[in-house]
Amino acid sequence: MTVISVIGCGYLGAVHAAAMASIGHDVIGVDVDAERIAALAQYRPPFFEPGLPELLSAGQESGRLAFTTDIGAARAAAVHFVCVGTPQARNGLGADMAFVDAAVDSLLPQLDTGDLVVGKSTVPVGTAERLAPAIRERGAELAWNPEFLREGHAVEDTLRPSRFVYGVPAGKAGQRAAAKLDEVYADGLEAGISRLTADYATAELVKTAANSFLATKISFINAMAELCEASGADVTVLAEALGMDERIGRAFLNAGLGFGGGCLPKDIRAFMARADELGADQAVGFLREVDAINLRRRERTVDLARQELDGSVAGRRIAVLGASFKPNSDDVRDSPALDVARMLAREGAQVRVADPQALDNARRVAPELDYATTAAEALTGADLVLLLTEWAEYRDLDPQDAGAAVARRVVVDGRNALDPHRWRSAGWTYRALGRP
Ligand SMILES: NC(=O)c1ccc[n+]([C@@H]2O[C@H](COP(=O)([O-])OP(=O)(O)OC[C@H]3O[C@@H](n4cnc5c(N)ncnc54)[C@H](O)[C@@H]3O)[C@@H](O)[C@H]2O)c1
Repeated sequence: MTVISVIGCGYLGAVHAAAMASIGHDVIGVDVDAERIAALAQYRPPFFEPGLPELLSAGQESGRLAFTTDIGAARAAAVHFVCVGTPQARNGLGADMAFVDAAVDSLLPQLDTGDLVVGKSTVPVGTAERLAPAIRERGAELAWNPEFLREGHAVEDTLRPSRFVYGVPAGKAGQRAAAKLDEVYADGLEAGISRLTADYATAELVKTAANSFLATKISFINAMAELCEASGADVTVLAEALGMDERIGRAFLNAGLGFGGGCLPKDIRAFMARADELGADQAVGFLREVDAINLRRRERTVDLARQELDGSVAGRRIAVLGASFKPNSDDVRDSPALDVARMLAREGAQVRVADPQALDNARRVAPELDYATTAAEALTGADLVLLLTEWAEYRDLDPQDAGAAVARRVVVDGRNALDPHRWRSAGWTYRALGRP
């Protein structure tokens, strides 16, 4: 058992804290957001994540998990995970490092000789090297241990990640840091999960490179969707056939409205900005195109809506199904669905948005839109239906029932999630990205 502090209790930190308590560690979660801490202390995660409420209550009832706004509480811990946000800076593509810097500054006075600080936030390469000296001055050591969790699967991904990556300094200090992380992650290591140790820069790059690769794969198939649209081909069949080649693999080849959320968009932009600083901008110049392809899919979806409404969406009633950036999450950060809904509203459409979990967050960032608590309510009287986040309940909609609610049976499937044959048989005009 290790006594752990987790600094920053958002998606990453709250799940990490609860998961570490569930495998027997003593964990104190610290955040500067008092509202967030109060919610966590009442077993309420400030966001939707399957399995997390149960871990929060079990952990706090066992006495192994607590939350506070008092950074002084971190003094009792020997291993400190830094899990604060690294959003895109307001004035450019780079990451805003103010939260990481402030978190480490506040942690420094709490450190004892022999403590280990573990960065988990996604940071520009070179960050750990920059932060390490101040930590060493306190007699503590720094490791960088990037996180690969997927929202919607965060608990399972934290407890059973695809791999553990430790960025540690060379020599004995690095070996001691790795040994401490091995103790923290003993449960996963015993279950056979691979562990790689590397220098700081490599560990930081693993995370950015992984997200860049995933974003590239999505934009690759979306670029193919553009070609399918130009040539009359079907991207869903193309993706199926490509995915059968094991060198390519089927995952992340679902053509549609593209990626969003609090990670991929800002991570590829921060990577370009950092590469530029390092004089290696040409190496990741392709990411500019990856980003552009991704954003073009949103424009294309709006084009399809216009086409299906005889050239203008102004004054027309549009039902948007989905607000979160992906299903099983209430995260609306850089959500393609919400972006499209707002673009349509700006063109004068009467947009009504439904989402099973993300309505509160969506209302906060897009108060100008109308919201419906159920899909049925959003569909009522609609001239056009857009499926923009592929929640299971939208995939499973009955086209006959949906048809009875709308004014016109026209659907744009922004996620290639519906069965065109079934919807067309029920009298719907079915349009999708990358399909005839
Ligand atoms: N969300 C994901 O799926 C995911 C996955 C892997 C990696 N990451 C990375 O993890 C990091 C955190 O992302 P997130 O999605 O959890 O962000 P988030 O915005 O949900 O959470 C960040 C939290 O840090 C808190 N915070 C800010 N400054 C603080 C300080 N000085 N002291 C204590 N707390 C402070 C905020 O109040 C907030 O609760 C980012 O670098 C992100 O790229 C996120």
